[in-house]
Amino acid sequence: MIATVTMNPAVDYTVLLESPLLHNDVNRTSHERITAGGKGVNVSLILQQLEIPTTVYGYLSGTTGTMIAEQLLRTQIPTDWINVPNQMNRINLKIKEDHAVTELNGRGVSVSAAETEQLLNKLRKYGDHDYIVLAGSVPAGAPASHYADVMQALGESGVRFAVDAEGETLRQALAMHPFVVKPNLRELCSLFEDGGTMDTWWDALPYGKKLIEWGAQNALLSLGGEGALLFTDAGRVWHLSAPHGQVKNAVGSGDAMLGGFLAGCAKGKSLTESLRMGIAAGSATAFSEWIANRSQMDNLLRTLPEPTELL
Ligand SMILES: Nc1ncnc2c1ncn2[C@@H]1O[C@H](COP(=O)(O)OP(=O)(O)OP(=O)(O)O)[C@@H](O)[C@H]1O
Ligand SMILES: [Mg+2]
Repeated sequence: MIATVTMNPAVDYTVLLESPLLHNDVNRTSHERITAGGKGVNVSLILQQLEIPTTVYGYLSGTTGTMIAEQLLRTQIPTDWINVPNQMNRINLKIKEDHAVTELNGRGVSVSAAETEQLLNKLRKYGDHDYIVLAGSVPAGAPASHYADVMQALGESGVRFAVDAEGETLRQALAMHPFVVKPNLRELCSLFEDGGTMDTWWDALPYGKKLIEWGAQNALLSLGGEGALLFTDAGRVWHLSAPHGQVKNAVGSGDAMLGGFLAGCAKGKSLTESLRMGIAAGSATAFSEWIANRSQMDNLLRTLPEPTELL
């Protein structure tokens, strides 16, 4: 079983602009779309497609919380939400122009110690054959140690953690030895005081290795259209290029990649085969309007070569 936790689910309001965004002026959209969910939910959508049992966890509040719950009901993915009174899940605005996406993300719901404990109690049933995915930002006002604290509280269970976070939240989670972390290049850079100096993905190699040095068992560094690097605690590094195709919407492709990778691991596939599944899920998602379906992933997977080991 793979449990996904989205501490900060959101309603995403995506708008398309046909002319460049003007500040301090009125802009008109040419297309709008409203979706509800979050990063952990996206991982679960991929897992459901790949027939891996999954349950969605997170905090819901207010009318936006009701929208998120309703959207999940339609997917038929099992959920076990915690309802937080008197607040509202955030609305994230995504402005798409020709080749640029500008995001404006809200702060989200703040949760009490009792509500955190409620979540931990729900997750205590998972053990050494299970995975827990902690994806996205922590609740408003929660300390950067929040993911590390959750991992510590569940530390005895033997469950494997996958973490998709950035900055201090990611750094502190690394020390708890997650099974895998999945930063993109920007999130990797956020860990270094020099901001990471990278012209090509080759320059990311020493930075990526630090993720293992700081405690991760495996680190998947996604590189957008250039594929991904996989670092392991056995000191090995692989690269797999992304296939070429027409990008329709790359938002959520990193979440899809993590879902594909974990599906491989849960099916007992090798790390390199899991990397192929991750790239297939990520790229198929980038080439579709929203999270990819099974046949889109399978079709791409067939075209992917073996990852290249970097020595
Ligand atoms: N332009 C692209 N062409 C082909 N594949 C892509 C492209 N962009 C993303 N992908 C696929 O998706 C994977 C993850 O992409 P990316 O590094 O952009 O994730 P991310 O920044 O974490 O995304 P998000 O957080 O929005 O889910 C890549 O490794 C690749 O397989
Ligand atoms: Mg991401």
